[in-house]
Amino acid sequence: MCGIVGVTGRADAQSVLVEGLRRLEYRGYDSAGVCVAGPDGALATERAAGKVAALSDKLGARGGLAGLSGIAHTRWATHGAAEERNAHPHRAGRVALVHNGIIENHGALKAELMAEGRVFVSDTDSEVVAHLFDAALDQHADPHDAWRAVIDRLKGAFALAAVSETAPGLVFGARKAAPLLAALGPGTGYIASDAMALPEDAATLIYLEDGDTVVVGAGSADVRDAQGRPAQRKQAAGPGVFGRVDKGPFRHFMEKEIHEQPEVVGRTIAAYVHLADGAVNLPAKVDFAAMNRLLIVACGTAAYAGMVARYWFESLAGLPTEVDIASEFRYRDPAFSPGDAALFISQSGETADPLEALRLCKAAGLVTIALTNTAHSTMAREADIVLPTLAGPEIGVASTKAFTCQLSALAALAIAAGAQRGRMDAQAVKGAIADLSAAPRLMGEALSLRQGVDALALDLARSDIVLFLGRNSLFPLALEGALKLKEISYIHAEGYPAGELKHGPIALIEEGVAVIVLAPMDALFDKTRSSIEQVRARGARVIAVADAAAAVALEDQSALTLVTPDAGRLATPLVMAVAVQLIAYLTAVHKGTDVDQPRNLAKSVTVE
Ligand code: M6R
Repeated sequence: MCGIVGVTGRADAQSVLVEGLRRLEYRGYDSAGVCVAGPDGALATERAAGKVAALSDKLGARGGLAGLSGIAHTRWATHGAAEERNAHPHRAGRVALVHNGIIENHGALKAELMAEGRVFVSDTDSEVVAHLFDAALDQHADPHDAWRAVIDRLKGAFALAAVSETAPGLVFGARKAAPLLAALGPGTGYIASDAMALPEDAATLIYLEDGDTVVVGAGSADVRDAQGRPAQRKQAAGPGVFGRVDKGPFRHFMEKEIHEQPEVVGRTIAAYVHLADGAVNLPAKVDFAAMNRLLIVACGTAAYAGMVARYWFESLAGLPTEVDIASEFRYRDPAFSPGDAALFISQSGETADPLEALRLCKAAGLVTIALTNTAHSTMAREADIVLPTLAGPEIGVASTKAFTCQLSALAALAIAAGAQRGRMDAQAVKGAIADLSAAPRLMGEALSLRQGVDALALDLARSDIVLFLGRNSLFPLALEGALKLKEISYIHAEGYPAGELKHGPIALIEEGVAVIVLAPMDALFDKTRSSIEQVRARGARVIAVADAAAAVALEDQSALTLVTPDAGRLATPLVMAVAVQLIAYLTAVHKGTDVDQPRNLAKSVTVE
């Protein structure tokens, strides 16, 4: 979603801000802007609809903005179209301000400010905050007090950064239910919605908490809590030069991230199991024996990882498991029972709905567990138990390596649950770990499917609709395959349980419709094959993703078979994930879409 960068104490403030915006591009946005405080303290702003490159061009055309401090923003439109006049920073008198989130009471505040004679020039909810701050600066001697007074009037979710001509060299920040951190370097200070945006000299990160305000100066950060009291917050070392990510030899981050999977999945598995002993060794203690029910809550791809895991938790551990989409869960008055525990899966650890669901479960007294790729995220900070995925930074909006790392961690958790609940003896645990541990090697082999997928993708790029079918733990993978394809190629794709076909979806089948069937040679293979027959009989073009034995059995039934390496039950979804990711990626490449930053999408959905 929107991205924020603020800087002070840097002679090259404009470059730091624009480079920060570039590093935040992966989050998804549709306009960008920057404001720099010049040597005389006067604020100068530039904004552009579209990409950061358009903003850079405009800055170049006016010879750049000189100054030591400033703020910048990438906007993902919520209130008001993606036009320059709605882009941030917003100006009001002596103030410039950027905002992520939604100010729920902006209507009432705007009416009040207009009655005082203030004029609004955008359709955004954010502009009111700039006006409030400009007005408050007249009423408080200390600018931090003025800033606090503004924040106290806001309802909703927000991360804010502001500068004022009355407080040269200072950058004001505030967070409530949206990510924001401060950072310090030698004689420099920063604010950012994501550490990725920070330059190398941001040596110390300061993680703000909900309700905090901060005023950052050159080498100083004054953090205050929601009551206005000075606060010490958790600190960590900045990402430094080693935290930087680039595409390497790949054309897109998504392509790179697909290829990184054998390594990062291997790393994640190694954090959860003792490969040499064939035993589980979780990075944090989880008492599965005490659980009567596991609730898994997440969004999008992370929810599909949870759906795969439900099959594993129930069959390996006999642990009743329910999976919920976070935005539904948090508003449906979920009924809890003693012994319920809740597991939240999130790459970013900042997604608004699972975060609120976590808070809801915590308030209800459940043990809360966060499985996240972002160690210092809000969910990681708030959950009782934190479990990592070690995918490294994921830049492509379409999640790939984070998904398979989630699957590998969840498989290890299901094995641990099976052992703790007496469903698996040491031998069974060893066997399951051997199955899982083969995944990185087999995923590496599956990458060679690329050649076969490329020809298919050329064809799919001309399709209007693609269906994905799967059974058992591969049904959620069918959903994930369809989500990947629609996200980045904009082709209408749907995933269904193969057995559900006759209950409606088969009406979509007509001559030439592409149906991608996930068909390993498992206990349900014959049933999957009969689904294939049913769509084939109605003219579908069947593409099977199958292991060697299933490929032979389907020889006459599929128009094309992508043969994946033979894998055990736990590794199969991981291996077949590579195939569906390659299908989506290469189809999008043939269509020429913006693979890493698809239209309308944000990497981390931090507002409802
Ligand atoms: O950061 P999170 O894992 O909480 O994000 C959840 C979803 O927003 C995310 O998986 C989304 O569906 C991706 N675009 C899928 O590729």
